[in-house]
Amino acid sequence: MKGVIFAIFEDFVVETFGADTFEDLLDDCPHTAKEPFIGPNSYPDQWLVDLVTAACKRLSIEPGDALHAFGKFAFGGLTSRYPNFLEGVTHPRQLLLLVHGIIHVEVKKLMVGATPPNLFYDNVDGDPSELTLHYESSRGLCQLLEGLLLGAGEHFGVTIEYEQPACTHKGDARCTYLLKFLQPVTA
Ligand code: HEM
Repeated sequence: MKGVIFAIFEDFVVETFGADTFEDLLDDCPHTAKEPFIGPNSYPDQWLVDLVTAACKRLSIEPGDALHAFGKFAFGGLTSRYPNFLEGVTHPRQLLLLVHGIIHVEVKKLMVGATPPNLFYDNVDGDPSELTLHYESSRGLCQLLEGLLLGAGEHFGVTIEYEQPACTHKGDARCTYLLKFLQPVTA
């Protein structure tokens, strides 16, 4: 996983729980980097899992809730670092349709070795207040994705409701989300 995600995780812990808590997490995970995480560098996925697990233990949080909260925070962390990806975008549905084919493609050009997830969409030309999103990743971070979704909704002032009829954690081949945007795209 790219250093930018670790750097945003550090910001999340420091802003939410304080710098000492992040130091404690590093003490709990002595195998992870002691120096600042460098955005374009790659670090083992397991390090993120270990840091999140340590945070959950110390703070008595469920891993799913932690990933949700981190995902919500990470949306702001990513878009403040790469504001150009939001240019001309006014609705989360519009943004989601750009993530796989444009944003994550650019991310792969900017950061050698980046492996963002596969996202596929159904009902693209259907009801603009709905979208079906499929998520495929060996990392199985669908709760992080949900947080990112909610962060995107919050950013644009659009409430996103969803059902998840399929999940890799329940044995399905991929995670599927039926999204409903309570404020539909108007433009
Ligand atoms: C400006 C917007 C965005 C930027 C710049 C961005 C960039 C990135 C980067 C750098 C990574 C790490 C890839 C790696 O370490 O190999 C990542 C991962 C990820 N992105 Fe995005 N992203 C954006 C928006 C979104 C949105 C809106 C979603 C979905 C709602 C999304 C879903 C994910 C997920 C789930 C991961 C975790 C990796 C995985 O599951 O395999 N991203 N993204």
